[in-house]
Amino acid sequence: MPIESSERDVLLRAAEHALAWLDGMDARSVATTATLDEMRARLGRPLADAGIEARRVVDDLVADTEGGILGSQGGRFFAWVIGGGVPSAMAADWLTTVWDQNAGIHACGPAASVVEEVAAGWLKDLFGLPEEVSVGFVTGTQMAHSTCLAAARHAVLRDAGWDVEAKGLAGAPPIRILANAERHGSVDRAVRFMGLGSDNIEPLATTDGRVSPEALGAALSASRAPTIVVLQAGELNRGAFDPFEALAPMARAAGAWTHVDGAFGLWARTSPAHRDLARGLELCDSWTTDCHKYLNVPYDSGLALVRDAAAHRAAMTLSTSYLPAGGAARDQIDWNPEFSRRARGFPIYAALRELGRDGVADLVGRTCRLAQVLVDGLGALPGVEVMVRPTLNQGVVRFVSPKAAATDADHDRHTDAVIAAIDASGEAFFGGVTFQGRRCMRISVCNWRTSDDDVGRTIDAVRTVLLKNS
Ligand SMILES: Cc1ncc(COP(=O)(O)O)c(C=O)c1O
Repeated sequence: MPIESSERDVLLRAAEHALAWLDGMDARSVATTATLDEMRARLGRPLADAGIEARRVVDDLVADTEGGILGSQGGRFFAWVIGGGVPSAMAADWLTTVWDQNAGIHACGPAASVVEEVAAGWLKDLFGLPEEVSVGFVTGTQMAHSTCLAAARHAVLRDAGWDVEAKGLAGAPPIRILANAERHGSVDRAVRFMGLGSDNIEPLATTDGRVSPEALGAALSASRAPTIVVLQAGELNRGAFDPFEALAPMARAAGAWTHVDGAFGLWARTSPAHRDLARGLELCDSWTTDCHKYLNVPYDSGLALVRDAAAHRAAMTLSTSYLPAGGAARDQIDWNPEFSRRARGFPIYAALRELGRDGVADLVGRTCRLAQVLVDGLGALPGVEVMVRPTLNQGVVRFVSPKAAATDADHDRHTDAVIAAIDASGEAFFGGVTFQGRRCMRISVCNWRTSDDDVGRTIDAVRTVLLKNS
């Protein structure tokens, strides 16, 4: 029997709203325009005793959130590393919602399990990672770090004769964590989650965001304790890559596990023009990345990739008498920290099919080219200093105060003021960062929608703001 017309109506209505929102993206302000108070006033109604018609709920939701939805789906959003949604991934995400599979085990959603199995193979191939690598489809890089560090913790303590899953960490040999000093904060948070203690992180000194073999060698030789080395593919500001080719064999020789934060940088491996930036990456032991960033699938979608599948499984697996085990099939609960979970493989599978190998390479190559065009265009404007010209998709500039005898503090204030004015113009959106002790504007390009026109329009918008602020 077909569904009730009221249910059909509400789903079609949501699709209409979604399409209207996408259609309006180019004309709408990229920044939000509603204030916090307005959002609270509109959305913060008391919970009524009686429910209301589903269609009205959807219409109200759209009306009440007007001006409160950030334009990160569009082509002129350059703050943080966010990405949009390619059409098939957005559509597959809708279907994921409607199918509502619990992708915890194969038995709860056989197609969801097989889609992840297939997508895992495609992704390893795209990243040039070994066939034996196991993959967990998690919410994002944060949880991917936690998953990989759980596997790493298992392996380094197993090698020290300690079963951490059974005995826990109390009384275990202490684990050293040697980590790139310019790492992302999500690494420290995962270290905390894993009970390893952020005080046990020993920062590895960097030059231009990269750890040198000398720095790692000195740290490794200081102790034979169980060790996890944390490197990165794509540092936050410059998109720098550690020299994995030199570092990974050193860590392996010392019996250490090497984990890589590749939240966006792992995707460099998919682009022939950028692959070499991450030379030797395949020699490491675990890797994290996001599909919600560079692959342009909807949130939330990250990957935990682990060479030692047995360690990965030992750290994650769970079986109970009421859950049928998959047997030959893939149970996601063996590779993921969640129990019940969204079938987030469908949008990934869809995006990879829509783009193909060439499309992924083009997406990465194009956004990296546009990042350079944008930074070069901004750098040509009076009062703009380029701090980082992108080698991948990340750049950094700052705005020099026009005041006579301006101090560093003046430049910092001016930079923050210019960023705020650009964002307020609604034409483009950037974020600030303190880089090398200076307030700067960070530029990330990773949205499939960003075009040469978007970049030109953005440079025009910045020029206008600078003229007003000079
Ligand atoms: C380099 C890097 N690592 C980790 C993360 C955290 O990723 P997620 O927000 O998907 O957990 C980010 C997020 O922007 C990042 O840029």
